[in-house]
Amino acid sequence: MKITSAEFIKSAFAPEHYPTDQLPEIAFLGRSNVGKSSLINSLLQRKGLARTSNTPGRTQSINFFLINGSFYFVDLPGYGYARVSKSMRSDWGEMAETYLSSRPQLALLIQLIDARHEPTALDRQLNDWIVHNGAPRLVVATKSDKLSANNLRKSLKIISDGLGAEDLVAYSSEKGTGRDAVWKRIAAVL
Ligand code: GTP
Ligand code: MG
Repeated sequence: MKITSAEFIKSAFAPEHYPTDQLPEIAFLGRSNVGKSSLINSLLQRKGLARTSNTPGRTQSINFFLINGSFYFVDLPGYGYARVSKSMRSDWGEMAETYLSSRPQLALLIQLIDARHEPTALDRQLNDWIVHNGAPRLVVATKSDKLSANNLRKSLKIISDGLGAEDLVAYSSEKGTGRDAVWKRIAAVL
């Protein structure tokens, strides 16, 4: 897909702040620090559009980016960051769940899993929710550049078995590996 424009539109904490123009949305979900914001920047080839950080918990609101004036990328806050307070953790659940269950225009959920790790309990919980709700989903294994080809192959198998995911894309935001495959899926749902 040719990207002619990509702009940050707004940060939302509650449904009344979500965009109201009904355009299709592609949402990025995964644990804190897994590489959601980096994936968004890499797909758009815009370095600082979504803010990234070494510190987990960087993205704490739901951020909407308008692409080509015709659909949104939605950067959701990461889950499972142990060092935020209990109340913030349940805020996450509430914020994400409210978003996920109230957007008929949600065209695709991109679920990110760190290629180096097995899916966590929270990854599985989210997976169960997605399967239960029949939401269209693509699993992306991030930071694939950190593994050898052999270990990456083993990891992808563990992740796809663990989540029962048929299609899985190995991605590196550093190198751009996987970009075409992810765009292909996005284009198909749009
Ligand atoms: P939160 O907003 O805190 O939930 O994190 P996030 O999921 O948005 O992660 P973010 O994109 O901020 O990336 C976290 C860290 O991982 C940053 O230091 C990134 O540079 C690094 N990172 C992300 N993707 C990759 C990748 O594909 N390869 C490598 N080597 N590092 C990556
Ligand atoms: Mg982020």
